[in-house]
Amino acid sequence: MPIILAIESSCDETSVAVCNNGKITANVIANQTIHENYGGVIPELASRVHQQNIVPAVQQALAISKVDKTQLDAIAFTRGPGLLGSLLVGVSFAKSFALALDLPLISVNHMQAHILAHFIDEPKPKFPFLCLTVSGGHTQIVLVKDYFDMEIVGETLDDAAGEAFDKTAKILNLPYPGGPLIDKYAREGNPHAFKFPEPQIQGLNYSFSGFKTSILYFVRDQKAKDANFVENNLADICASVQHSIVNILINKLNKAAKQYNCNEIAIAGGVSANSGLRAALLGMQETLNWKVYIPAFEYCTDNAAMIAIAGYHKYLAGEFVGQDVAPMAKMEF
Ligand code: KG4
Ligand code: ZN
Repeated sequence: MPIILAIESSCDETSVAVCNNGKITANVIANQTIHENYGGVIPELASRVHQQNIVPAVQQALAISKVDKTQLDAIAFTRGPGLLGSLLVGVSFAKSFALALDLPLISVNHMQAHILAHFIDEPKPKFPFLCLTVSGGHTQIVLVKDYFDMEIVGETLDDAAGEAFDKTAKILNLPYPGGPLIDKYAREGNPHAFKFPEPQIQGLNYSFSGFKTSILYFVRDQKAKDANFVENNLADICASVQHSIVNILINKLNKAAKQYNCNEIAIAGGVSANSGLRAALLGMQETLNWKVYIPAFEYCTDNAAMIAIAGYHKYLAGEFVGQDVAPMAKMEF
């Protein structure tokens, strides 16, 4: 049965995983801390660090799995969506490695892979299920009918939920990526201390740009009255912002669940690591009789294990790509 090496390099994590017959045996993630001081990922810097990290990460993943490269059956890689310069490093490496070892190549869509992370461990969702995919670049409600038969039924019209977290963090002078820090401070704060307007968007779509602006103005106005407002109220601000974002996310998800008469509900992507979102979903499980699927922390943010499991299912379906494949910054399902 197949042993697949998978490469993820769409943003600022260089990650390499090995999947042996559907089981993940290594998931090496080399984080890039270089972006912390810039308030966001600097694409050119990200590409350079991927270039440094990729071969050591591959060697480490193979060593952890006790697999020799000659035992591999296929190379899976993230083709998109993502930062083009970052993707180029992973795609070029995957193509060269596959060429040198005479192996087939498997192209994986990063957003589909976030959803397929649910098929790494038990319990696995049953088709069809609804997945709220919330990351730094995307916010989507996806109707998942089969491994690679997915329909986006709602999405953000502007900023992603992760961006709402990260941009709020920037307003509060917290380093990038701010999502995990807001989550941390929110634990000590009062989620009802401050109120922020929820966007009124039709259907199952989201919008976060007005929400972000309302936080910007709120903080500016409060600071005009009290220069230390942020420092003195950090936990309450974080808790209130997090509470609002989670409410916005959950309300539309609930609407989708009713519309599609579906109670198999999953979350995926970096923001699914958020403790407020996880707790709110578990609450819905109780009150609405949902069956909720929440990924393990290591499979929420970017990782190659999700690329490997997606690659495994493509391998079983016999879906390979040629050496002329190129990365795509924007990529549909
Ligand atoms: O999926 P991901 O690792 O990368 C993208 O594909 O974008 O998601 C990264 C996003 C960032 O915006 C980060 O702030 C957010 O996920 N994030 C969180 C938490 N952990 C990561 N947001 C809120 N709470 C968290 N605990
Ligand atoms: Zn991602």
